[in-house]
Amino acid sequence: MRYAFVLGRVYTLSIAELVAILEKPDPSFNLSGDSIKILEASEEVLVIETKHPLSAERLQKKLGGVIKILQIVDVLKKREQDSINFALKHYFKPGVLKKQFFKDYKGKMQFGVSIYLLDMSLARPSTAPVPLPNTEQRNFNSPFGEPKRIGMMIKKSLADTGQSIRLVLPEFNSLALASVVVTKNLLLAKGAEICILAGKSVIYTAKTLTVQDFEDYGRRDYQRPVRDEKQGMIPPKVAQIMLNLANCQTNNTILDPFCGIGTILQEGILLGYKMLGSDINKLAIRGSENNLEWFRNRYKIPPGKYHLEAADARKLSSLLSGQKISSIVTEGTLGPLYTAYPKPQEITANFKDLASLYADSLVEFARFLPSGGRVVICIPAYKKGRNNYEKMPSLDFIKDLGYNFISIIPAAIAKKLKFLKLTERNTAVYDRKDQIVAREIAIFQKN
Ligand SMILES: C[S@@+](CC[C@H](N)C(=O)[O-])C[C@H]1O[C@@H](n2cnc3c(N)ncnc32)[C@H](O)[C@@H]1O
Repeated sequence: MRYAFVLGRVYTLSIAELVAILEKPDPSFNLSGDSIKILEASEEVLVIETKHPLSAERLQKKLGGVIKILQIVDVLKKREQDSINFALKHYFKPGVLKKQFFKDYKGKMQFGVSIYLLDMSLARPSTAPVPLPNTEQRNFNSPFGEPKRIGMMIKKSLADTGQSIRLVLPEFNSLALASVVVTKNLLLAKGAEICILAGKSVIYTAKTLTVQDFEDYGRRDYQRPVRDEKQGMIPPKVAQIMLNLANCQTNNTILDPFCGIGTILQEGILLGYKMLGSDINKLAIRGSENNLEWFRNRYKIPPGKYHLEAADARKLSSLLSGQKISSIVTEGTLGPLYTAYPKPQEITANFKDLASLYADSLVEFARFLPSGGRVVICIPAYKKGRNNYEKMPSLDFIKDLGYNFISIIPAAIAKKLKFLKLTERNTAVYDRKDQIVAREIAIFQKN
């Protein structure tokens, strides 16, 4: 079976999360741990082959960094000089469409077309037409017209059989439908989203199985009774990715010792972990209490799934009274949040303070973490420009404290996927356009 995962904006993190989940045996997703092969990958999409069919719906809920899960239908060869629609000219026959892409649906059907690029250079329209070896006319227009051309081809093919159907297209400057459009137009229930994954010499056709529940992520972020713009809150999707990097089993206990108003805690509960949260600030703990009470009611969470405590991360172990903690997932305090780029001296001072706080906290964590237990942590990185950050100068101090670095993506995979944006210490940075303080996500493992 072949599947494709449409990646989130910070695709390096999406791939890190995917690899962590797909390589771990987990019967609830029909994953046996050794059965996944990566066939292709780009900044937009990752294609895999599996021995067994996957439970796409469950997997979609588990993954914070995946926008859609697709099932590959066919692989076609493409000549480099051919446009995508030309390469598909004879493919979308009514029989193929009805058998492979559309469910039986009695009402007015609708479908959408999305293109994802396996070769990002295809995004640049070729300005000068390439001389054609034969007289056939090919279309060298911008690839941004391709979903429409392919959509019309499919529509016509179905119309010839008497089937009328509505076509939903991406916005004019986009090649793919946003998940919100797929959901709002009920494409998966009333027809299909047909996806084309385009490389230089290969085309995969695919149909969308699931899309990320964008409304629910919004609810988990913005409908909480307490928010804290001053300290900053981690987006629920990023919290989910970090939890998935912790390599824990469901029912394990995970600690967030800088829990703020509880984003990582709520996401951990939803993933099936027992969560412990602590924070030095009593007000933050009260915020977490209120938020988790709301969350528990909204998501019908049984009692006993979390515990909160006001505590300094550097003096935590005495409060844990022998509780077994498998991993720590945390947004260690990021220091001040800025609206203008801070002076170099400020950055140096912040990093010095934070290194000392993190070092003292890691010493404390080593008292109760098991050997092999992970600390997945966000560290501030100051955004100087596109893909250019001022990062904490060295994290090597963790080695003297009994920890080792774990690459966010295993070296063998990172070596093959040249487009990944990994730092020199194999961490990845999550940033937002409007924010100066970005989050560097690192994994430490206790020896
Ligand atoms: C960036 S906020 C965490 C926000 C959280 N991830 C969320 O989404 O709500 C960092 C938190 O670290 C807490 N903090 C700072 N120093 C601490 C310490 N020494 N021990 C425990 N918590 C601390 C702050 O009170 C703050 O709530």
